Amino acid sequence: MRIPLYTNTTRNKEAKKTMALVTSKNMFARAHAGHYAVGAFNVNNMEVIQGVCEALSEANAPGILQISKGARDFAGMPFLRGLMQTALEVYPNLELCVHLDHGPDFELAKACLDDPIFTSVMIDGSGLPFEENIALTKKVVDYAHSMSTPKVVEAELGRLGGIEEHVVVSEKDAFLTDPDEAVIFVEKSGCDSLALAIGTSHGAYKFKTEPVLAFDIIEEVSSRLPGYPLVMHGSSSVPEEFVNLCNKYGGQIPNAKGVPEAMITRAAKMGIDKVNIDTDIRLAITATLRQFFAEKPSEFDYRKYFAPARTAVKQMVLHKLNVLGCAGKAVQ
Ligand code: G3H
Ligand code: 13P
Ligand code: ZN
Repeated sequence: MRIPLYTNTTRNKEAKKTMALVTSKNMFARAHAGHYAVGAFNVNNMEVIQGVCEALSEANAPGILQISKGARDFAGMPFLRGLMQTALEVYPNLELCVHLDHGPDFELAKACLDDPIFTSVMIDGSGLPFEENIALTKKVVDYAHSMSTPKVVEAELGRLGGIEEHVVVSEKDAFLTDPDEAVIFVEKSGCDSLALAIGTSHGAYKFKTEPVLAFDIIEEVSSRLPGYPLVMHGSSSVPEEFVNLCNKYGGQIPNAKGVPEAMITRAAKMGIDKVNIDTDIRLAITATLRQFFAEKPSEFDYRKYFAPARTAVKQMVLHKLNVLGCAGKAVQ
């Protein structure tokens, strides 16, 4: 994969003029009206940021790069901020939002809101009792909306199964979003978008048997909050091709199962405007590296394997943008 580079200063200045981060507000309004969804991709390092941006650029799709607390701990914000800024210079025409994924508390949400690189944050109070989740979310929303350049806030109601920020949510602790509560939650907290628990979970083991999603919840919330942006976490489809490659070359991820792509497209048509993807990126990279190491055991120039891993991320994201229906939908 070729990463475009600006070597000419005039062009660089031109790029700086046009680059701008946006919030997700306008992206979501168009996605809702057009019955498609915007992809939100978790990023932790340079190669993934490059792969995702290259795909967004090639497909002319709007996109969200999201940074979790884990990503901040791994790479550190100075590096992540620098990489994001560079991405904006290299891809000046991207319609891009940078978002905090699963903000655990007010302090981190505020720190990200105060950081110019973020235009959007998630405050995840889904583990709290209903009223406490509302109160925490409202506190973040009030802060974000009162900024001189207002930013946007995603919240979560209901509890996904799987692993969130290293806290394992067991199946018995997971519960689906109650549409009545969702309406009250949005009204009282003022959040700009809401993540629903509809049967997905984080990670590569989403279903023990046939995948089932609660489409009725999307339908119900959508009809009671017309035009309101809904979010689906845990949306990786865990492609068989990656799982098989991992397992063929020494991996041990048996019985991994994700959300079938047809279900993602259906959810997008029904009112899901943001679809979160992290696991599929991890699988694309791991499958590529495992195959490479097995086939070329004497190679130790890391560029030789990080380059195809980055290309695998790009190809996976390009495919996903078509599944979501957001290819060709960017506005500059
Ligand atoms: O929802 C969780 C995301 O996949 C981020 O995962 O906390 O390991 O960065 P992480
Ligand atoms: P996956 O684990 O399905 O990729 O979900 C990622 C996610 O929801 C990030 O917030
Ligand atoms: Zn999530």
